[in-house]
Amino acid sequence: MHINLVDQDHYATSGPPHEQLRWLRANDPVYRHKDEPDFWAVTRYEDVVHVSRHSDLFSSSRKLALFNEVTEEQRALQRLMMLNQDPPEHTRRRSLVNRGFTPRTIGALEQHIRDICDDLLDKCSGEADFVTEVAAPLPLYVICELLGAPVTDRDKIFNWSNRMIGAQDPDYASSPDEGGAAAMEVYAYANQLAAQRRANPRDDIVTKLIQPDEKSGETLGEDEFDLFVLLLVVAGNETTRNAASGGMLALFEHPEQWQRLVADPGLAGTASDEIVRWVSPVNLFRRTATADTVLGGQQIGEGDKVVVFYSSANRDTSVFPDAEVFDIGRDPNPHIGFGGGGAHFCLGNHLAKLELRVLFEQLARRYPRLRQTGEARRLRSNFINGIKELPVVMG
Ligand code: HEM
Repeated sequence: MHINLVDQDHYATSGPPHEQLRWLRANDPVYRHKDEPDFWAVTRYEDVVHVSRHSDLFSSSRKLALFNEVTEEQRALQRLMMLNQDPPEHTRRRSLVNRGFTPRTIGALEQHIRDICDDLLDKCSGEADFVTEVAAPLPLYVICELLGAPVTDRDKIFNWSNRMIGAQDPDYASSPDEGGAAAMEVYAYANQLAAQRRANPRDDIVTKLIQPDEKSGETLGEDEFDLFVLLLVVAGNETTRNAASGGMLALFEHPEQWQRLVADPGLAGTASDEIVRWVSPVNLFRRTATADTVLGGQQIGEGDKVVVFYSSANRDTSVFPDAEVFDIGRDPNPHIGFGGGGAHFCLGNHLAKLELRVLFEQLARRYPRLRQTGEARRLRSNFINGIKELPVVMG
């Protein structure tokens, strides 16, 4: 079978190459992807978890998390980003930002998220694009509220996040360099936001994060803070937005599952987990081997690029016997859509799950006759499994 796991055009037309990934899991689970770029593709659940949990052997900082090689200047900046760090630098940073994302802090937002969701759904009736009118604004408004960003800045933040994540998609960016330019603008914006909160502290996450930690007395440095906001804008928006739109599409493609949800909106919790497993909004992540090691029977060399495919691991039949079945009642559901459980396990997982649960519960209650009216258009990206447009009638 011809294997190309990074062909952007394939993702734009059909989403992740599930047929190739299925073949690799069965026949060549740690596969040397020789087409440019050259890397090891890790496709089985067990191996993805192994890589994720051994940051000493599979580093996030040695090279950058994705494929692109970058300039020294960009690298210096990106190295400061938590996602591109290894323990112990990462551990210190993570413990400082964890303060804003504990289950308790996030749980307290439920009513607020319900209100945002209700407002959004109140505004759309009749024909709508599910992506721009529901899936995209929900996480965007939530992140803006968390940051205390004014309502008037929402469009600007929306645009930045599209340009960063859609750098390979002509609908969002006219050249891949635009992603870097947008990132620099968010960086500058974060700097202003922090300066405002230092002058006028408020009850928001920005104020919390620029203050010293009560226990350790440590504080995030200025650059560290700005880069964290940058990370939040991308990680908090695009992922949840594409889980929501990909989840809605999956429900349209499996009408019996939508009917189940309409009959029992209480299933929205397990449905959200199943959506993250099925869609795997983050397709992959890259690590770099720090030493010669063996993985899935293959000899990996120091410095080799190792790419874990969450979209593949989440359909591994050794963990999910009926992996190709979309089942909104699946329980337990040990999917690894939020990462394989290591140091970088998704900081926003409680928030994302809450947003998805509330959204799908309200959709099922309020719009039982919701239906798709046109073809979904996919994002041209091998990193984010995204949907750009999903025409619907709300009913
Ligand atoms: C990391 C997925 C929502 C913030 C990650 C990782 C994945 C992921 C796969 C990397 C894990 C690893 O390398 O082991 C998702 C998915 C989401 C989602 C599928 C939605 C369905 C969010 C939200 C936020 C967020 C809402 C913030 C509000 C982060 C951050 C990291 C991260 C900051 C880096 C953590 C670190 O380096 O320690 N996420 N995420 N994510 N996510 Fe999410």
